[in-house]
Parts: sequence; structure tokens; C-alpha cells
Amino acid sequence: MSKYVVFDGMDGCGKGTQIDLLKAELDNSAVFTREPGGTLLAEEIRKLGRDNPLASESTALFKFLLFWAAREDLEYKLVFPALQSGKHVFSDRGDSSTHAFQMNGEEHKELFHLFHLIRRHVFLNRRPPDLYIVFDLPAEMSRERAMQDATRKTTHFDIRDLAFYERVREGFREFAERASVVFIDATGSPKEVHALVCAALAEVGISLSK
Ligand code: TYD
Repeated sequence: MSKYVVFDGMDGCGKGTQIDLLKAELDNSAVFTREPGGTLLAEEIRKLGRDNPLASESTALFKFLLFWAAREDLEYKLVFPALQSGKHVFSDRGDSSTHAFQMNGEEHKELFHLFHLIRRHVFLNRRPPDLYIVFDLPAEMSRERAMQDATRKTTHFDIRDLAFYERVREGFREFAERASVVFIDATGSPKEVHALVCAALAEVGISLSK
């Protein structure tokens, strides 16, 4: 049976490396995508919400709705059809990020009810993720790693103080109260972390045969 798994975590948590390791081990029975993005329309929303400085001049609700709009298109056009055709779907970020970054990091807890209302609609007659794998590491380490990453394009998402990272970390913990989340210690080597990822995937019935 196909499974839907989201990889998430703070900036600099190494999920990109882990996703690349997985890609190398899975055949074409798996679909890899990312949020925001993953469809032509959602990639346009990504450019608007993530890369366009005008978005940072708007309200928290605007950004929150953009993330959900991109997600709706992704679920409709790519994720649900892929799951129905029997393919596993792995996504680089998901609604767990909206919870952690917008509601906790950016301190908009007033969006809590709206978050769960929209979530219900987006996944109505579709399938919510079977598992969220959150790569966890201390806030200081996350910030340091993100700042050191020369390849990282600096956007308005990157200019944050330590307290922001701490709130985001807590945001993932709060999200885990209502979803199936496995936290993985991301301070280890890529190989060690990969072994933990494989164990978590095996728990939901995904085995890496290659
Ligand atoms: P990206 O360059 O993809 O970073 P990363 O490699 O860390 O995933 O940028 C995605 C940024 O968007 C990241 O800082 C988290 C943020 N984001 C939100 O704030 N809310 C969301 O719902 C999503 C999906 C991402």
C-alpha cells in the first residue's frame, strides 16, 4: 500500500541530504516533491510567497493562505493521484512547516482553528500524510548551520533570531500532538541519521530494497 511521508524540520537540519540518500535507494515507485511547490502553479506561489519581498510586507494571514493554496494544488494534482496509483510520496516539508513556522515561529497562534479547518478540507476525500519525520536539533545548531550554508539563498525566511528557531522547534512538538510524527535526532552523521530514517520508514511498511 502506498504511503505519504513528509520530511520536515528546522532550517539546516539536513533533510535535503537525507532526501537525496533516499532517492538513491528508491526506484520509480516513489514520487518526490516539495513544499511550497511541486506543481507548476504551486511553484509560482512559492516564488510569490517565498522569494518576493512584497510578500513579507503583507500580513501573516496572507502568507498562511498562500502556503495552503500551494498545498491544495499539490494535493489535488500530484499527491493524491500518485497515492491512488500505488506510489509512495515523499515531500520535503508539509503542513507541519506552516504550523511550526507561521503559527509558532512567527507567533500567530490565532490561526490555530483556521489551520485545522483548512487542513480538514484539503485532506477531505484525499489522504493526509501517514507519517511526518521531523529532523530535530537544538535551535543554536539550526541557526548556525543555516547561516553557514553558502548555497542557501537568503530570503526573508532566513533573517531570524535564536528565539524564532526555538519557537519553531516547539511548533513541531505541538504539531505532533495531533499528527503522526517521528522525531529524529539530526545531530548525528548523515549515515547515522539515514539509519534512523530507514527504521522510521520500516515502521510504516516502507522498506528500502535496493
Ligand atoms: P527552502 O529554501 O525550501 O528551505 P529548506 O531547504 O529549509 O526547506 O525554503 C522553504 C522555507 O519556507 C523554509 O524556511 C520554511 C518555510 N516554510 C514556511 O514558513 N511555511 C510553510 O508552510 C512551508 C512549506 C515552508
